[in-house]
Amino acid sequence: MFKKLAISAAFAVALAPAAMAAGGEQHIEDFAFSFEGPFGTYDQNQLQRGLQIYTEVCAACHGLKYVPLRTLGDEGGPQLPADQVRAYAAENFSVYDPELEDDRPAIPVDHFPANTAAGAPDLSMMAKARAGFHGPYGLGMNQLFKGMGGAEYIASLLNGYTGEEKEEAGSILYENTAFPGGWISMAPPLAGEDVEFADGHSNDLRNEAQDVAAFLMWAAEPKMMARKQAGFVGVLFLTVLSVLLYLTNKRIWAPIKGKKTS
Ligand code: HEC
Repeated sequence: MFKKLAISAAFAVALAPAAMAAGGEQHIEDFAFSFEGPFGTYDQNQLQRGLQIYTEVCAACHGLKYVPLRTLGDEGGPQLPADQVRAYAAENFSVYDPELEDDRPAIPVDHFPANTAAGAPDLSMMAKARAGFHGPYGLGMNQLFKGMGGAEYIASLLNGYTGEEKEEAGSILYENTAFPGGWISMAPPLAGEDVEFADGHSNDLRNEAQDVAAFLMWAAEPKMMARKQAGFVGVLFLTVLSVLLYLTNKRIWAPIKGKKTS
């Protein structure tokens, strides 16, 4: 009996490194974001910091082609004043205008440009296309309690580089504990202190990763706050309706179900 246990323990120890070499378990950290929970809202300052990181770092490779620039001024988002949205669009992006047959500076009605030059995926929907939490056994229990975790996945990905690299079929892969399979072709985009924030907010790697992840969550679901509000009003309405119906029902049946008279 003891011998059998010892053998299986030795077996497990021997197997563990093999599992890790094959990518092992994805490690997703459960970051605390302001927009979680039924009443969570986006943190406007965080979205503005995230926008800055996206613009200065990620935009070099990743597009956001489904996000209109004007939504940067929308309530519930980064909420830049209208003149700043115009200035941001014109300073950072140019678009091809078929009428001018030339590039012109972007204006708020344009979208963020598409960018696939480096083989990098568009990030417009990334925060909703990835799930941070799964299982156990596909039951979705983790997702019920922790949410889909798209923003957690992105923040963990940016934090998840181990520093190991390898070359495979002519391209360099970087080991990452959050990426499925464990090896990603994106070089670590953030190292900490990549940007300077105007409000003096900490720019270490952990904070930067969370800020840009929050921004990408907003990009993928800009109306999250309105959706939660509508949901809350709906539930409240149905609760009141249920109480009224219950009382009405009681009243209607009262003569029949009431005290026996004979
Ligand atoms: C030098 C170009 C480059 C830069 C800069 C860059 N990325 Fe990437 N990124 C890539 C490439 C290439 C891939 C595809 C990697 C793969 O599938 O192996 C990728 C993939 C991703 C993915 C998808 C991972 C998945 O699950 O498929 C996310 C999320 C991402 N990048 C976020 C970011 C963020 C956020 C930034 C800015 C902080 C950034 N990237 C900066 C090149 C870049």
